[in-house]
Amino acid sequence: MCGIVGYIGQNDTKEVLLNGLEKLEYRGYDSAGIAMLNDNGLNLFKVKGRIAALRGYVNNTIYATMGIGHTRWATHGVPSEENAHPHQSASGRFTLVHNGVIENYQDLKKEHLSDTAFVSETDTEVIVHLIDKLYGKYENTAEAFRQVISLLKGSYAIAMIDSEDQDNLYVAKNKSPLLVGLGEGFNVVASDAMATLKVTDQYLEIYDQEIVIVNRSFVEVQRLDGTVVDRKPYTAKIDASDIEKGTYPHFMLKEIDEQPFVTRKIIKEYQNENNELKLDNDIREAMKAADRIYIIACGTSYHAGLVGKEFIEKLANIAAEVHVASEFSYNMPLLSEKPLFVFISQSGETADSRSVLVKIKEMGYPALTITNVPGSTLSREADYTLNLYAGPEIAVASTKAYTAQIAVLVILAVDTAQAKGLKLDFDPMQELAIVANAMEILTDQKEAMEELVTNYLQAARNAFFIGRSADYHVCMEGALKLKEISYIQAEGFAGGELKHGTIALIEEGTPVIALATQADVNYAIRGNVQEVIARGANAMIISMKGMEQDTDAFVLPHVHELLTPLVSVVPLQLLAYYAALHRGCDIDKPRNLAKSVTVE
Ligand code: G6P
Repeated sequence: MCGIVGYIGQNDTKEVLLNGLEKLEYRGYDSAGIAMLNDNGLNLFKVKGRIAALRGYVNNTIYATMGIGHTRWATHGVPSEENAHPHQSASGRFTLVHNGVIENYQDLKKEHLSDTAFVSETDTEVIVHLIDKLYGKYENTAEAFRQVISLLKGSYAIAMIDSEDQDNLYVAKNKSPLLVGLGEGFNVVASDAMATLKVTDQYLEIYDQEIVIVNRSFVEVQRLDGTVVDRKPYTAKIDASDIEKGTYPHFMLKEIDEQPFVTRKIIKEYQNENNELKLDNDIREAMKAADRIYIIACGTSYHAGLVGKEFIEKLANIAAEVHVASEFSYNMPLLSEKPLFVFISQSGETADSRSVLVKIKEMGYPALTITNVPGSTLSREADYTLNLYAGPEIAVASTKAYTAQIAVLVILAVDTAQAKGLKLDFDPMQELAIVANAMEILTDQKEAMEELVTNYLQAARNAFFIGRSADYHVCMEGALKLKEISYIQAEGFAGGELKHGTIALIEEGTPVIALATQADVNYAIRGNVQEVIARGANAMIISMKGMEQDTDAFVLPHVHELLTPLVSVVPLQLLAYYAALHRGCDIDKPRNLAKSVTVE
């Protein structure tokens, strides 16, 4: 993954780069670096660790009018100062940052650079040495850059400095996200508009296999063959306060608390003044025309897809399948005659999902993307987009995007049902409003959740989440949240499946968290809880009002049975949060993870 930022302008290079990298840390945070060019030459600073460490290390007396920066999530080579970007060419003339994976870097190395000494284990270093080499041939930086970019296979967002040229940054993109931000007397480059919102809200999209020459006063976008592209800028509609923590100790807690607001916003955005659903007619027609819906996603978004499948089948009466993108990509199932692909992705940039999108578009199938970032790659490349309206999600562990995805999936299913003339026996938007209120009741009960952590998860090495039907899918998400941020080994299971193997792991005191929100399996799941208690488990039941029993650890407010995942996930998010807090974990930036995974 990694985040990159570049600046060319006046004197505030260092601050723009460091601020930008801080906003991009969600993309990776194991090492970082910046390079700044001034009349005295290139100043390079690299550290193993976070941007805070880089900030402490950068020489504060240096002023420069251009620079590039990088925050890394290691793919090739361990997190270290040597492997941190920016990387320099052997002559020291060219310096670059890269996000992505160069698939043919070994071949390029063998073919062109057998006599070059490498200092890092990265694929990136190949690019910069190659530029040195081809500069020798063309004696023109832009041409050498273009020639090298044409040789690369894989994904890249690249920003490069030529130490002999204080007027241009050289930029290129393929598959990895990259934008150019426009200012008065300066321009910026970033993996995400969030990084440079402080200095501009005007952005130019860069498409795959384009090269950009970024000067202080102009930006020139070119295709690989050199033809110049005319592209209009757009205004990034992100509220700068949305990307600050405010008084919250962690973004994750802020984002958990924002869920009632986001649910209400979704209700508002998807209804007209007559309280009718207002989905794009093309989406409606595409849903109606499909004989099967293929939901493709990763991580938390995949878990939201599992819940969404139920809505599409039960409300819209269309068969639906949910697939992990990285599996689907290389092991495609037999497809129906008229499939519609629904991609669920908070970031809209996940490489595994995009790889499926590219393949199914080649096969000629229609695609809808449900995303929090409407201008993202998955949104641009699909035929249709539904927006999550969740606002920027910064914590690596996804919370409000998950519930927003589920809410939008309900709306999609209801809209399709209405378009097909199917009668629903409940008012879905009214029920979603009740869900928003229930979420608020839950986010107001944080002390109760913290107490459950003390009673059940304090010294846990592992934990099991069990549920049936819709609860099973939420259990998978609850387990993912817990392992992601507290590092407690956790698994979500179908209640009935535990006895077919995993029950062997239950020991005296093993925490088991059961969800009981589904009436027809209430007794069955309670039976499964008894089975684990009989083997020594420290089990708790989170049930729903109307089916609770005295011994239940926590009772959720009542909501429509189909919509329970939107509510039952909230206590599980809070359990994960407090378990991680009590262990002193870095909640917003858990080890080894990144929020936007732009490598396959
Ligand atoms: C990463 C994040 C997860 C997220 C997954 C899919 O692994 O850490 O929180 O669920 O990517 O991301 P997407 O942006 O496609 O929803």
